[in-house]
Amino acid sequence: MLRFLKYFKGFEWAIIVLLILLNVGQAILDLTLPEYMGSIVELVLAKATISEVVVEGLIMLSIALGSILLLIISDFIASILAARYTMRMRGLVFNKVQSMSQATMNNFTTASLITRNTNDITQVGNALSMGFKIAIYAPVIAIMALLKIINKSAELSVATAVSIVALVLLIGIIFGFAVPKFSKIQKLTDSVNGINRENLIGLRVVRAYNAENYQKDKFEKTNNNLKRENIIVGRLMSVLNPVMTLIMNGLSLAIVWISAYLISDNLLDIPTMTEFTMYAMQVVMGFLLLSIIFILVPRATVSLKRIYEVLDAKETIFDSNANEKSINNENLQENQQSGNLNNLVVTSENKDCPIVEFKDVCFKYPDAEQSVLNNISFKCYKGQTVAFIGSTGSGKSTLINLIPRFYDATSGEILINGKDIKEYTLKNLHSLMGYVPQKGMLFKGTVKYNVDFGENNLSDEQIEWALKTSQAYDFVKKMGGLDAEISQNGSNLSGGQKQRISIARAIASKPPICIFDDSFSALDYKTDKKVRSLLQKEMAESTKFIVAQRIGTIKDADIIVVLDSGEIVGIGKHEELIKNCQVYQEIANSQLSKEEINATIKK
Ligand SMILES: Nc1ncnc2c1ncn2[C@@H]1O[C@H](COP(=O)(O)OP(=O)(O)OP(=O)(O)O)[C@@H](O)[C@H]1O
Ligand SMILES: [Mg+2]
Repeated sequence: MLRFLKYFKGFEWAIIVLLILLNVGQAILDLTLPEYMGSIVELVLAKATISEVVVEGLIMLSIALGSILLLIISDFIASILAARYTMRMRGLVFNKVQSMSQATMNNFTTASLITRNTNDITQVGNALSMGFKIAIYAPVIAIMALLKIINKSAELSVATAVSIVALVLLIGIIFGFAVPKFSKIQKLTDSVNGINRENLIGLRVVRAYNAENYQKDKFEKTNNNLKRENIIVGRLMSVLNPVMTLIMNGLSLAIVWISAYLISDNLLDIPTMTEFTMYAMQVVMGFLLLSIIFILVPRATVSLKRIYEVLDAKETIFDSNANEKSINNENLQENQQSGNLNNLVVTSENKDCPIVEFKDVCFKYPDAEQSVLNNISFKCYKGQTVAFIGSTGSGKSTLINLIPRFYDATSGEILINGKDIKEYTLKNLHSLMGYVPQKGMLFKGTVKYNVDFGENNLSDEQIEWALKTSQAYDFVKKMGGLDAEISQNGSNLSGGQKQRISIARAIASKPPICIFDDSFSALDYKTDKKVRSLLQKEMAESTKFIVAQRIGTIKDADIIVVLDSGEIVGIGKHEELIKNCQVYQEIANSQLSKEEINATIKK
């Protein structure tokens, strides 16, 4: 719970100290008011002159104004504190998510990660900006006011004590019911966000299938659940205010009533009664303010817990050991300085070493029952093109996603340049490869920003070269050149245009390994062929992994891996496979004419 203090930095601690001083100061000023009130009543009873009363009154007024001034300043700096704190937390969560493995992310779900980094952090911010100063002011005023009256009159003190016990009981009961609801509300907010997100992403599909009502029902159900929980909490909270006021007024009444007897017995005077009433109100006020803390803090605690869950998420995919890390980093830096990353992988001593080698790799998705990949073994060398083909769901994407370590193999090992990929730092590993995911992903920004993505700082010539190689240059020029804007997700581009920019991004820094997951599927045959032959020529040094559905796209590959239900059922060149791999033959039969197949067999 006290962990949240850890995230305050530097001069925020000075703000906190200032906040404490300001609020204690305000409480002290407020606590002097009843004394002045008492002495004014005394003056009036003693038939003092108007000017004497006015002087006391003016002093009281200026103290009240001073208290308001302190309140304004403390409000002001509390919001600065909250804004800075929440900004830092958002940054931390964002950075953590950046380094999260796919498996961990799936565990949280995207919608929940978004809620945690927005709504949950807002809850914490609210608690900080409002709650922090109340948490200082309320106990100070309640305790000090109590101390002031405790010796004044035993009877009145008993009346005050009864009200306090009633208050504490009330707060306890209400929060006993309300607190469990807070975590439920945050979970439901996750679901509402999730449905919203799904709906927005799939809006076109929803419209095309007239599924608006279905989506609406789904949303309404969760939305109603959220409403119900909010209403329950709202109802509980709404009891708080009137009952508090009842207790406060009841106490005033009790004080006046009891005082009437005491005064008539000469056991109490009127100024003391006035003072007592004001102090008693301050005590109750203190508790009332504390009840606000009881609303804010449990809510913020639930949210903080959810934020910590993200920050503490254990990574299954991480850099192996610090030693290796520093060596690799040095290497990388040297290579980056000399402008040639390829050196990191291929040196004169290890020319004959395979660039990528899979050794008996098996893989099972976390929480899945069955393995998706079984005993995958193959190797490939510098400059080769390795193609993967197989029916949908045969594990092609899964296989190539293991190379950048989006997931780690369940058993077996993957070597790059003879070294287990786990021995590379993730940063170095990723700088060795260009990757085009199956689902194209572009970011809001210019074409240049999208192609020169990451820490490359490529020259315009290099970017243009990449765009020309991926056959994107012409349409980019029409769009307005390298500075043309791409919308979020590349929604102002066609599927094929998106794929070509993604290919340009993957090859722009000429990485030694390029991975294309079905990245040619939206290209017409002519462009597909052109891009492939340009890649062959311009990226001759790089090892290319190509997943494709079309035989045409891969038939020139050096190695074709045929996958079926996660197993390699054929490996070799097109000509070999078409003769002796049944699965490959079936795919070929469905795509090529008899003449085309016969032509390859004869070759
Ligand atoms: N995140 C995931 N969690 C659990 N199972 C998954 C996940 N992603 C894929 N799978 C399962 O793994 C299997 C292989 O999926 P994969 O995406 O590798 O197929 P693919 O060969 O790339 O298919 P396609 O040609 O349609 O792209 C499928 O049966 C799928 O159900
Ligand atoms: Mg796939």
